[in-house]
Amino acid sequence: MEAHELRKKYIDFFVSKGHTHIPSASLIPENDPSVLFTTAGMHPLVPYLMGEAHPGGKRVVNVQKCIRTSDIDEVGDNRHLTFFEMMGNWSFGDYFKKEAIEWSWEFLTDPAWLGLDPQRIYVTVFRGEEGIPKDEESVKIWQTIFKQEGLTHEIAKNEKVDDTTRIIPLGKEDNFWIAGATGPCGADTEMFYDTNPQAGPLTGNFSDLVKSGRLIEIWNDVFMEFNKTPENKYVPLKQQNVDTGMGLERTITVLNGFENVFQTEFFQPFFKEIEKLSDKKYSEEENTHAFRIIADHIKTATFILGDPKGLTPSNVDRGYILRRLIRRAVRFGKLLGIKNIFTFKLAEQVIKMYKDTYPELKDNKEFIVNQLSLEEEKFNKTLSQGLKELEKMSKDKNISGKEAFILFTTYGFPFEMTKEIAEENGFKINDKEFNDEFKKHQQLSRTASAGMFKGGLADTSDATKKLHTAAHLMLAALRKVLGAEVYQKGSNITADRLRFDFSYDKKMTPEQIREVEDLVNEKIKEKIPVNCEEMDTEEAKRQGAMGVFGHKYGDKVKVYSVGSFSKEICGGPHVENTGDLGHFKIQKEESSSAGVRRIKAILE
Ligand code: ALA
Repeated sequence: MEAHELRKKYIDFFVSKGHTHIPSASLIPENDPSVLFTTAGMHPLVPYLMGEAHPGGKRVVNVQKCIRTSDIDEVGDNRHLTFFEMMGNWSFGDYFKKEAIEWSWEFLTDPAWLGLDPQRIYVTVFRGEEGIPKDEESVKIWQTIFKQEGLTHEIAKNEKVDDTTRIIPLGKEDNFWIAGATGPCGADTEMFYDTNPQAGPLTGNFSDLVKSGRLIEIWNDVFMEFNKTPENKYVPLKQQNVDTGMGLERTITVLNGFENVFQTEFFQPFFKEIEKLSDKKYSEEENTHAFRIIADHIKTATFILGDPKGLTPSNVDRGYILRRLIRRAVRFGKLLGIKNIFTFKLAEQVIKMYKDTYPELKDNKEFIVNQLSLEEEKFNKTLSQGLKELEKMSKDKNISGKEAFILFTTYGFPFEMTKEIAEENGFKINDKEFNDEFKKHQQLSRTASAGMFKGGLADTSDATKKLHTAAHLMLAALRKVLGAEVYQKGSNITADRLRFDFSYDKKMTPEQIREVEDLVNEKIKEKIPVNCEEMDTEEAKRQGAMGVFGHKYGDKVKVYSVGSFSKEICGGPHVENTGDLGHFKIQKEESSSAGVRRIKAILE
């Protein structure tokens, strides 16, 4: 089965169960300060898990582009990728465990859909831990299904699987899902597939069977019913939700009987291209790792650059991840002996492969190709010199934090890359010293600590809600003061401040900044109610609402308005009245990238 068929089947199946198909959201989350990229389908949907009404109704289905860079070092093994697509069906306070599990089973095993052999499917359930009870209900639902199918349905003891057991209870580490440190969460049940029944009856310790690749996870049904607070409390949500995730790449691997994801259509065309560029063979063991890394990283970089937000490589936050992906791929390209700049060629392959599903790649092709080539050329200029420098520095088998910092600032070596080279050569490198050095120079902000990737989910505290409404007022004010060519290019809100990028190509004067502040504060003083209305995209456009059309929402969208002053398509949440905001102040106005300015603002 090919990817386009699988996406279609998944969507058709859930549409037949009353779900609305919604498009993939951006890879760059809006108003979610806790993550750099969309790591799961839930990020853009958090407000609806928390109880806001989704314009598409209570059941939606999507295929979401995701990026996970926290285990970037594992790319190249059999399973880890930095970019993947996640198919998911969602219930926002509608159906719960019974329907979710029954539909998963039907989709997996019914010959009209995936038609997988029921004998080869095993499931895990939450066994209860830390005051959260065992998921008895899921166990019962699975047992009923297995009985009906005439399958064994014993519950595994001590994670020991044999051919009579099919249900494996596991702890929080495995069967309780949360996107980060805080946010919506709940117990889950995961479905695994036996990839090699020819090897005889399945027997052994569950985690060993997963590690060996015999069992592979294909689907996760999460029952989101808690919100984990920063104080580590699990507070019941207003409603019980379902969030499921089925990895597209893995499922294609399994359906086609491949051993790993690199054998699929997602990678083979890249490997052919890299073979042409390098004159090396993917099948030769010494090259395999480099081929996989290059293909994976350039695909991810292409998707980041292809996102309409216009993100470019830099030394901070998201831009740093992008830089690191490109430079790591370039270095592995050099190791394979590729002489000329090559990343743009692979990007063209990515665009060709995905353009029908993600047309933004085609729309932004020129930008993608230019940015990749620029970054590659920039890095090429310093790479060989930097490597020489690194060699000198490591004469004592040791690279100090200061030295790694010089490699970063002078030669553009991302720290993780220096570390990787050090490890390849058996040198030591001092992480802590390096991080201290960064802090001293305040270059890498939060990225160096990788903490961002583990962050919690959208904080819908009052403070962020207020800043979110303030952002709408500010955009309207900017357009009044600077002109209608101003559009929002991105925003990032934490509990203490608002960061906002907009299109404008000059530095704002102090007078303009004051005018914007005054206008926003005036609207706050007027105590205007914030109204939310649902309408279809066409109507929103007709009414002149600001916002990204077409990409992010289904047919119905929410439009938030503040009197006649501001009207924007937005998922919310917002305060009910501008009078709640306090005093608005712009702290900083600076350049963000070419033609884009950035404002940091607070409410006092
Ligand atoms: N949100 C769940 C996951 O990513 C479905 O696995």
